Amino acid sequence: MSLPVIPAPTTMTTSHESFTLSSESAVAVQSPELAGPAALFVREVRLDTGLTLVPPVIRDRTAATVPPDATPAAVTVLIGDEGLDDIPSAAGVRADGSDVDERHGLEITSEGVRVWGPTPEAVHRGLTSLRQLITAHLQDGTAVLPAARIVDGPRFAWRGLSLDVVRTFHAPAEVRRVVDMLALYKLNVLHLHLTDDQGWRVEVPSRPELTRVAAAGAIGDRPGGYYSTHELAELVAYAADRYVTVVPEIDMPGHTSAVFTAYPELAPAELRTIDLGNGNAIPLNALEPGRPETWAFVEDVLDAVVPQFPQSAYVHIGGDEAWGMADEDHAAFVDKAAALVRARGKRVVGWQEIARANLGPDDVAQYWISIDLDAADAGNGPVPPKDLLPILVEHLRKAKGDAPKALAAGGRLIASPTTWLYFDRPHGDASSDPAQEEARQRLGLEFYGPATLRDGLDWDPVEDTPGVTSTDQLAGIEAAIWCETITGPDDLELMLLPRLPGAAEKGWSHQTPTDWPMYAARLAEQSPAWRTRGWTWLQSTEVDWK
Ligand code: ACM
Repeated sequence: MSLPVIPAPTTMTTSHESFTLSSESAVAVQSPELAGPAALFVREVRLDTGLTLVPPVIRDRTAATVPPDATPAAVTVLIGDEGLDDIPSAAGVRADGSDVDERHGLEITSEGVRVWGPTPEAVHRGLTSLRQLITAHLQDGTAVLPAARIVDGPRFAWRGLSLDVVRTFHAPAEVRRVVDMLALYKLNVLHLHLTDDQGWRVEVPSRPELTRVAAAGAIGDRPGGYYSTHELAELVAYAADRYVTVVPEIDMPGHTSAVFTAYPELAPAELRTIDLGNGNAIPLNALEPGRPETWAFVEDVLDAVVPQFPQSAYVHIGGDEAWGMADEDHAAFVDKAAALVRARGKRVVGWQEIARANLGPDDVAQYWISIDLDAADAGNGPVPPKDLLPILVEHLRKAKGDAPKALAAGGRLIASPTTWLYFDRPHGDASSDPAQEEARQRLGLEFYGPATLRDGLDWDPVEDTPGVTSTDQLAGIEAAIWCETITGPDDLELMLLPRLPGAAEKGWSHQTPTDWPMYAARLAEQSPAWRTRGWTWLQSTEVDWK
């Protein structure tokens, strides 16, 4: 029997026995450092299902046990490594720069449940599988769990989502909901795309016009906003409690129009744009590497941003689509920005275009341009405006060399192919809900064409990333969502769910390729928790939702 866990566990066996968890069932921790993950587990099970287990009680600094009047512990969590050597350790690098082992075990017998791992994070991952099993086996307020043994660990160390908070500003509470979604599927990175042409979302006290002027807008007439230092500290801590590292992106040297509205003296002498003919224009302006004021600005920004993301070992410097900039200027900019990041004790990650500069082995390039003009079905889809077409053609031509160049420098890639991991593609699956069918016509960039849930599972990060032949050349994978068409929380959730578990499957599971019917059966079991939590998801007619 296959267990309804996403991502699919590395090894799993089941038997016909069972164990029932009820509101009488207590959780015990055998090591005080596990009290946090155990208490979080009790909270999350209640939010997923309404079932309230008896939380662990910490007696003193060395022992934490169940309350004396509770039944013997139904769920015991402990530090241990039983069976873990039998499964591979993760390839790639973690966003927090550590080598924390996430491998863990979970055993359900007729006597009770045990969850173990070498670190609190590993135990937390095991408890996350248990959360999903409780959701799937809930009957009249109790969870009748099948006896099973899972020994599991991730294929890749870096498993994330890049979230555009610029084109639509997502309030901290909504970003916390996204963190909850990531954590439920063992995704461990939230990459915040904090700056772009339409806005600026992070405080830089030495540059107050960024939050006074540049933060005020978003795309079109949507409201702007930014995260105060205090709000970001809360968000970063909330994510850290769930073993999610928040990585900041400051996109430069292109995508900086909002900077130029706040500080016009940083803008090129002559501002250029391409008119898209629909009321929108694409700017062709970038920060100039030859000007000292550019670097004073970048240093101010890094000095303010780096300390706000203490868990992240990386700063994302963007680097994408610096259209209108000479190649040598782009490379000079990336080289210097990267050096400034390294000088602050952080490592460099950027979109794949940064590979055109001089990367080193600690640097990570995020591969995204999986569209191949040669293979594109000419005549289908919208035709770009005449002035943009040559820029796009040139961009796609140069992009072919990026991933191999980053690898040749000894660096790693994050796989974020537009084809499978850009969640701003329109949904290809129909929804059984007529209101969602209307939303589906509106959501996602027409340029990309629609993708079904099944399409999102039908690829492999190693096989489908150019130049990659072994898992360790990848840091891992990241889905990305851009918010041109996404106006608020419901739109955002409708595009994230149910795609996010599919990204998690690609980043975590060693089982490749993914068997769609079996995956769809596991996916169907996720919906009761989403419903209980009030999350919006596309009710695809391809899945037999519970
Ligand atoms: C990107 O989609 N411009 C990274």
